[in-house]
Amino acid sequence: MIFTIADDDRALARALADRLEVEIQAAWAHARPLRMALAGGSTPRGLYEELGRRADTLPWQALEIFFSDERAVDPKDPASNYRLAHLPWLAKAPPGALIHRIQGELGAQAAADAYDDLLRRAAAGGRALDIVLLGFGPDGHIASLFPGMPLVTTRIAEAVPATADRIARVTLTLPALAAARRRIVLACGSAKADALRASLTPGAETPLARLIAQAPVEFWLDRAAGQALCANTTP
Ligand code: 6PG
Repeated sequence: MIFTIADDDRALARALADRLEVEIQAAWAHARPLRMALAGGSTPRGLYEELGRRADTLPWQALEIFFSDERAVDPKDPASNYRLAHLPWLAKAPPGALIHRIQGELGAQAAADAYDDLLRRAAAGGRALDIVLLGFGPDGHIASLFPGMPLVTTRIAEAVPATADRIARVTLTLPALAAARRRIVLACGSAKADALRASLTPGAETPLARLIAQAPVEFWLDRAAGQALCANTTP
């Protein structure tokens, strides 16, 4: 595991945008688009705003965008993870940019089947995804992989049924996240420190812990979330 700690959320967004720019430029040098799946939630908003400020200088032909998960909603719905990235950043992409939206408006199962098929075709030419961006929740969920869900599957993308307090979703599966070349997990705020500390505890069974157990994970944290790494954190 690699931990990068920034002073605050804006510094984190700038530092990670710098790193991603380097990765995209490197992909361009190798004439192969960088395949990156974007995280949802609210944490990545600052990163997408920062990348939006750099949209005019990004080599878009060197970038192929996917999503780590999506809610089963219209892309204009405020709950849409696509909308989170589209408003500040992807809306500035040139015509023909390689952006693969999960079609949540089709319903979770149909959207998951279509996305699974897309990713299988992408994987047929080698690795499906180079970088997966992820957040995690207080319960240690990642993407839309929630505690208690079966995580062993042969699928790359799957539907997550609605519950009483959660709309239906489409998510990359744990094997798909583990198979990516790199996993970058973002977190800001002290509430995430507790969740991270729990998933870093040996024997933890959260989806985040299961991912950590299967593949190297790079954590990009602000100072508050980084408190997870301090043994005796003063309140
Ligand atoms: C989603 C995300 C989810 C998110 C975490 C953290 O669709 O909600 O994929 O996994 O990354 O819940 O959310 P915040 O960034 O809002 O804390």
